[in-house]
Amino acid sequence: MSKATILIELQQLQTGFQQALAQATQPASLEQVRIKFLSRQGLIPEFLKQIKDLSPEDKIKFGPQLQEFRKTSEQEFSTKQALIASQNIPVQNIQTRDAQTQNIQISSKINLNLTLDPSSELPNQKFGSLHPYTQVIEKLENIFISMGFRIAEGPELETEFNNFTALNIPDDHPARDSQDTFWLRLPQQLMRTQTSPVQIRELSKQELPVAVIAAGRAYRNEATDASHDCVFMQLEGLLVDKNISVANLLGTLKTCLRAIFEREDLDIRVRPGFFPFVEPGLEIDMLCPFCTAGCSVCKRTRWIEIVGAGLVHPNVLRACGVDPQEYSGFAFGFGLTRLVMLKYGINDIRLLHSGKLDFLTQF
Ligand code: PHE
Repeated sequence: MSKATILIELQQLQTGFQQALAQATQPASLEQVRIKFLSRQGLIPEFLKQIKDLSPEDKIKFGPQLQEFRKTSEQEFSTKQALIASQNIPVQNIQTRDAQTQNIQISSKINLNLTLDPSSELPNQKFGSLHPYTQVIEKLENIFISMGFRIAEGPELETEFNNFTALNIPDDHPARDSQDTFWLRLPQQLMRTQTSPVQIRELSKQELPVAVIAAGRAYRNEATDASHDCVFMQLEGLLVDKNISVANLLGTLKTCLRAIFEREDLDIRVRPGFFPFVEPGLEIDMLCPFCTAGCSVCKRTRWIEIVGAGLVHPNVLRACGVDPQEYSGFAFGFGLTRLVMLKYGINDIRLLHSGKLDFLTQF
């Protein structure tokens, strides 16, 4: 057999087999196809027997192709066999729920069509969506990772030392009061009132320089209303290295706010603020992204308070074993709940924490 004839015969056999397979619609006609093409004396095995007469070079050349042909033919046959079988399942004595209760037997023949229809659709399906918190956190994490920060985490159940003492918050500070803090029955344990204890956990590792952000829940013992909840989200940032200044802090925050609100011209304003763990301490406002002349969101002031920040206090660095003569750094804490409410125009914090589907599926 010459090379040219092998290929022509192969082609003809392939076409013949596929046509016969396509025409078979019942088990009986399918069996005819099996006998004609695939059985021991069938056309395909007979054709393949000729391999042994080929020259060694042609065996290497055509052998794999011919074996492959046998394999695919058998696979195609099995697929068709399963399809025909699925279309011919007689289902007898199906009882419906109602029929069962009335003890009536209904005989029927159901045609189960198991072929895949990619265009079919189940009506009234509910699709999930990402919570607005998740969307904003993912975006913030991407922005900070692109600036070289790493994602850090800390537990919500914290020690008094990490949440207050190491953060330079004195023993008699009113924030420690049980009216502000959820103290636990365990000694010196509390639900963290801020994400700032993550600063302590990261600095204590003494792997410098460090640049991290940490998003998470914070707890305060407060009455709930449209703008307060006893649980809310914060985003903490910390960067400690040599020669870090307020300029680095402001540049970082500006970049981040511009990316979140997708406004290249979004400006910030800095006011002095007091937080025991930073010196100087700053309150940072952003120009209202929603108006040009004052609106209800910015209470007609054009500025929205958004971040507490400052340069890490030398006492905090010392408490973590870092030399303040050698290192300096900045820290900031976003009210993440507030940021999300602003970004999506949500006016009641309780909606954000409600888990209500009709609210959540809007995002
Ligand atoms: N932890 C502060 C708060 O809860 C925010 C803050 C973080 C301020 C870091 C300065 C630096 O209000």
